[in-house]
Amino acid sequence: MSRQSTHNCSNEQHQFDVLIIGTGSAGLMSALQLSPELSIALVAKDDLLEGSSFYAQGGISAVLDAHDNFNTHVADTLSTACGLADQKAVSYMVENAPAAITSLEESGVPFTKDNDDYHLTTEGGHTHRRVVHVADKTGQSIQINLLDNVKQRGNITLFEGYIAIDLLIHEEQCQGAYILNKHTNQVESFVTHKTVLATGGASKVYRYTSNPDTSTGDGIAMASRAGCRIVNMEFAQFHPTCLYHPHAKSFLISEAIRGEGGKLHLPNGQTFMQQYDERAELAPRDVVARAIDSEMKSGGFDCVYLDISFKDSDWIKEHFPTIYNKCKTFGIDITKDSIPVVPAAHYTCGGINTDLHGKTNLENLYAVGEVAHTGVHGANRMASNSLLECIVFAKSCAHDINQQTLDSVYFQSEPWDASRVAASKEKVVVSHLWDEVRSIMWNFVGIVRSDRRLNYAKHRLEQIETEVDEYYSLYLISSDLTELRNLVKTSQIIIQSALSRKESRGLHFNEDHPMQSKIAKNTII
Ligand code: FAD
Ligand code: SIN
Repeated sequence: MSRQSTHNCSNEQHQFDVLIIGTGSAGLMSALQLSPELSIALVAKDDLLEGSSFYAQGGISAVLDAHDNFNTHVADTLSTACGLADQKAVSYMVENAPAAITSLEESGVPFTKDNDDYHLTTEGGHTHRRVVHVADKTGQSIQINLLDNVKQRGNITLFEGYIAIDLLIHEEQCQGAYILNKHTNQVESFVTHKTVLATGGASKVYRYTSNPDTSTGDGIAMASRAGCRIVNMEFAQFHPTCLYHPHAKSFLISEAIRGEGGKLHLPNGQTFMQQYDERAELAPRDVVARAIDSEMKSGGFDCVYLDISFKDSDWIKEHFPTIYNKCKTFGIDITKDSIPVVPAAHYTCGGINTDLHGKTNLENLYAVGEVAHTGVHGANRMASNSLLECIVFAKSCAHDINQQTLDSVYFQSEPWDASRVAASKEKVVVSHLWDEVRSIMWNFVGIVRSDRRLNYAKHRLEQIETEVDEYYSLYLISSDLTELRNLVKTSQIIIQSALSRKESRGLHFNEDHPMQSKIAKNTII
């Protein structure tokens, strides 16, 4: 890539068989499933454990109970997805779910048991108890165990604090990526035969989110710039219940609380979910989040409340220790008090289009985990199907790469050229635009949309894109600038997708097109 000029460039060129960008559950499991014969670079822009995976609470869905069956798990997933999921992909995921749980257990994940049986909980959309979990810190346990296993492998080199900027494309194939080493502030080339994007979702495009800071849509933006097909990005999932407290940043109150009987109520104690859906608190997330949004707007409330205090206090502490302890730090005792909650952006259902092996339409490029669109979530993801998707498709992606004979010759990349850019004295522009993008997305492209609001957002994002492009051409690259570029790109794709869908379906609700059309079609950008 020829960018103008001298700082920020490095002649450092790494060569690996496989580059995996992202150390969430998708990236770690991909690395572990690749052949030990392959040299692997595993890169994370932040701490190795940081990412949505670490914060997953509820668990992973799998048919593990004799009274449950694959057909029902498939049917629940398809029904939650409102006609847009790919049945073949869903069946593949569901049928491989028990083996995914076994792989995690082999890595050391201690799922919660009742005697010898898994303790299975439930969440919205599931008609059986089928969610395995490690109390309410499933993601943390998965991440710690997978990373421990990765560290024991001699063929995997870890790069912590390295942020990928763009894919390296040569002769219409992906040959690795340009990656900013945040410790030296220099851009290094990673030249590889296969590249796996496992960069997670894009919920940080919204001002309020359950996600950690890593979810800035980097993989989706990079892939889009490289010509990959991006599918169904209008389906941004809002989790109904994030803790509402001025000092609580992004803390989720698991849907498993509702799975175990938790009730939502208004400030005056009145319950309301039954008026919206016969499944009440266990309706799929799109329904519950819209119901809360509607009650908050019509009643002028800052939040609604979730109550589990009627359960035995020791049982609550045993099943939800993380939530209990976190709420306690804010003076809320969930064994006695209702929890103040609001919806927040939680999950990106769309993403880079892939086949069942994670292959994208760009040769040598794979995408796995939340960054990918495999077809399993359609217009709404069912709870606890995401970690499952990460593990199942990480395994199939690695299997596909293991089958191939990789070249022994590496292509010589041009070093990153930064000879005509300067250090910025205007960093405030970047932080200002970050905030502006996220506010626009929250206010105009949120839970309930309209054509007018979407068009306003489109127009303003076009102006911001011009401002960011100009900044990018003048100043040295930085981590914040990289993420801002990606936030803008991903937001534009979400808006374009939302504008092109002239109906309401699943997570996409547009008051100018409130009906669901008879024909279900994917949005491809
Ligand atoms: P992540 O875990 O988000 O990892 C992304 C990785 O990519 C990170 O290592 C990050 O540093 C790296 N990265 C990103 N961009 C770059 C870049 N440019 N360069 C280098 N590295 C980069 N799902 C369930 O199924 N069950 C649950 O119970 C559940 N609970 C959840 C609770 C919370 C609070 C949240 C936020 C999500 C939850 N989800 C749950 C969703 C699920 O956790 C995520 O969808 C899933 O973990 C995503 O995994 P991933 O590996 O794709 O991405
Ligand atoms: C939760 O525990 O509520 C999150 C589950 C999910 O996102 O699948």
